[in-house]
Amino acid sequence: MKPVVVPMPGNERLADSLAAALGGERGSAIVRRFPDGESQVRVESALDGRHAIIVCTLDRPDDKLVPLLLLAAAARDSGAASIGLVAPYLAYMRQDTRFHPGETISAQHIAGWISSRFNWLVTVDPHLHRIASLSSIYPIATQVVHAADDVARWVSANVRQPLLIGPDEESAQWVADVARRIDAPFVVLAKTRRGDRDVEVSVPEVERWRSHTPVLVDDIVSTAHTMIETVGQLRRTGLAAPICIAVHPVFAQNAFDDLRAAGAADIVSCDTISHPSNRISLAASIAAGVRGLLP
Ligand code: R5P
Repeated sequence: MKPVVVPMPGNERLADSLAAALGGERGSAIVRRFPDGESQVRVESALDGRHAIIVCTLDRPDDKLVPLLLLAAAARDSGAASIGLVAPYLAYMRQDTRFHPGETISAQHIAGWISSRFNWLVTVDPHLHRIASLSSIYPIATQVVHAADDVARWVSANVRQPLLIGPDEESAQWVADVARRIDAPFVVLAKTRRGDRDVEVSVPEVERWRSHTPVLVDDIVSTAHTMIETVGQLRRTGLAAPICIAVHPVFAQNAFDDLRAAGAADIVSCDTISHPSNRISLAASIAAGVRGLLP
């Protein structure tokens, strides 16, 4: 039987692409709030005995998690044979340790809640820093889709003589991967974060790359202070204004405008979160990831 792809509100476009790519059916659900702020969900498609795929990217997660978990429960109540979650952006992965006494490791709790309702999870480049792999916190089957190939193709088609730049050590993994795919040079900078919006970045010797176009790549752009600080430091070294690429364009509050004002030549993102800067589509790569997990 064809799988049924059900979007949470705001995820319809990706659900359409997945249904088409997987030969599935595009399902629907009603997700609304009662006047008191509680959520009400209702599955509108026939799910009995079928594999359900719920699509919900998890930026601004606190508004989405309760209705998402209720929708998974409603799908189960409707007789779905299995329920998968496609969350191109996976929230809370940066809270992967106890930074201060009295805190908890939020990433583990979110993983536990999602795993208690879904059979499998597909996501794009989750922020794996102090947690080595998704399977160490998600007991369900998981598939990580990497954006590197799609990002590399965009850079290769749109940027003359690129120099890939990662703003911190964690970014080395995807920056090196993108650079390798298009045979471009890359450098990785050193970052110190003192607070949400207090970031310092140091730039190594980049004199010999003066004729190149700097392309900054980071997984998450939230306050954009990592990128803003990096853009400033690169400009001080005499490099051209960089193109900034975000895999996950979270862009909290005025972050996008602030980054533009800081001197980014262009700001481009993958469509893991809907944003006007989306120019790199990951739909085909995500569909391939889902194919690997569908029962
Ligand atoms: C951090 O480790 C991530 O890879 C990003 O560099 C970080 O999340 C960016 O955050 P912000 O845009 O708030 O500086």
